[in-house]
Amino acid sequence: MKRTWAIAGIDLHLEISGTRVSRSLTEAMRAAIADGRWAAGTRLPSSRTLAADLGIARNTVAQVYEQLTAEGWLDARVGAGTWVRGHAARPSGRARVPETTRPELDLRAGVPDTSDFPRQAWTGATRRALAHAPADAFGYTDPRGVPVLRERLAAYLARARGVHASDAHLVVGHGFGDLLALVCRSLRERGARVVAVEEYGHGRHRRIIRAHGLDTVTVPVDENGADVSRLEECGADAVLLTPAHQFPTGVPLSAERRGRLVRWARRTGALIVEDDYDGEFRFDRRAVGALQALAPDHVLYAGTASKALAPGVGLAWAVAPPPLLPALMETRETTGGGQDAVNQLTLAEFVRGHDYDRHVRRLRHLYRSRREAVDAAVAERLPDCRVTGLRAGLHCLVELPDGTREDVVEAESARRGLALEGLGRFADGSAVTGARRPGVVIGYGAPRAHRFRDALAVAVAAIRAARVGR
Ligand SMILES: Cc1ncc(COP(=O)(O)O)c(C=O)c1O
Repeated sequence: MKRTWAIAGIDLHLEISGTRVSRSLTEAMRAAIADGRWAAGTRLPSSRTLAADLGIARNTVAQVYEQLTAEGWLDARVGAGTWVRGHAARPSGRARVPETTRPELDLRAGVPDTSDFPRQAWTGATRRALAHAPADAFGYTDPRGVPVLRERLAAYLARARGVHASDAHLVVGHGFGDLLALVCRSLRERGARVVAVEEYGHGRHRRIIRAHGLDTVTVPVDENGADVSRLEECGADAVLLTPAHQFPTGVPLSAERRGRLVRWARRTGALIVEDDYDGEFRFDRRAVGALQALAPDHVLYAGTASKALAPGVGLAWAVAPPPLLPALMETRETTGGGQDAVNQLTLAEFVRGHDYDRHVRRLRHLYRSRREAVDAAVAERLPDCRVTGLRAGLHCLVELPDGTREDVVEAESARRGLALEGLGRFADGSAVTGARRPGVVIGYGAPRAHRFRDALAVAVAAIRAARVGR
């Protein structure tokens, strides 16, 4: 007998079977509590209600409640009711997904401080967007994303990043990872085999590429960005690059290499995927414009709301070369393809009212001052180290003296409660050229405002300890 009953507005599910009703009910309830399906504090129906729901004698239910109360699973108070008692649920046999807890102090790259999320402005934008959206906006929408958001983003990207963008070619995704997966699947279906990546980069992106049946080859990275001359010999069908601010070394792709890259793409028909993950955050002079403007037919430009707003917003965008668009849409339709229209309408309103610009400006100011603090700390306390790359983004690379071990810096940091990652963590295994000095990547965008100074001081101490001890 399977029954779901409702009490005080909540539904509970219970399965009892066989002729030994009392034993079956006891076991079913015990299992529900032990598995954690019935949370501590859940109020149970009265014995009369449950008995009526299950079609069994009230006495049977009363005895089961009594038994489980005696065993410590339930709490009962005369006249007040019966509750599931607070206790640790027994782990079920199912594999558990590791919890992502934040360490006490955090300077990892790519982990933004979400305490700055503009809750009020976002709530206002949601309210306005929902009040004014036509009813059709809540139906099945265009597989590229909600039209009004695509229009607003196209205008914003043209204005702020110099992208050649039209809403017709703009595709909204749940994050850059989602869009990269879409591109990889489309490429694979069109016969692509190999995607080139920078020798240092985001490990998850390499995993996404490989998970779609594509091989990766790496191109070295130096002070001019990715050495794209290596693309000539590697036979790649596409390349994933971070031209405005190489992740994580922080250098821009030089003008000479941009030209060379575009010539390669035109000659071979390969696709350039431009990951413009933090292009809005340039502190020392005007932002490096998007590479896409040089060759809109060969570059897929991608941006994300994860840095300027928060990863939890779960929105990113791509401007696709027109010939690639039908394949992307077909892939999207056949791989789920749902759209979060409410969130997209909110972002459209957030961009329309210039809340997005204002928020980015505020963050730019904040991250600039944090970057200055890192530069000053290194200059004063670590004179044999060097901060490299542009004054931009939410992270920077600090080069360490030759012979310093990155794993020792990481361990010294961890011992002091700080999460800090060596450059090697971003490398693609054995593919690294080995010509670089050791380094640590300081993600100054990660800590809460009141912990930033502490985190930086601990990083400095850990680096000094690692140097002394070598
Ligand atoms: C290099 C790089 N690209 C893109 C992203 C953004 O990814 P998503 O939009 O999936 O959050 C990040 C985030 O850390 C990143 O480090």
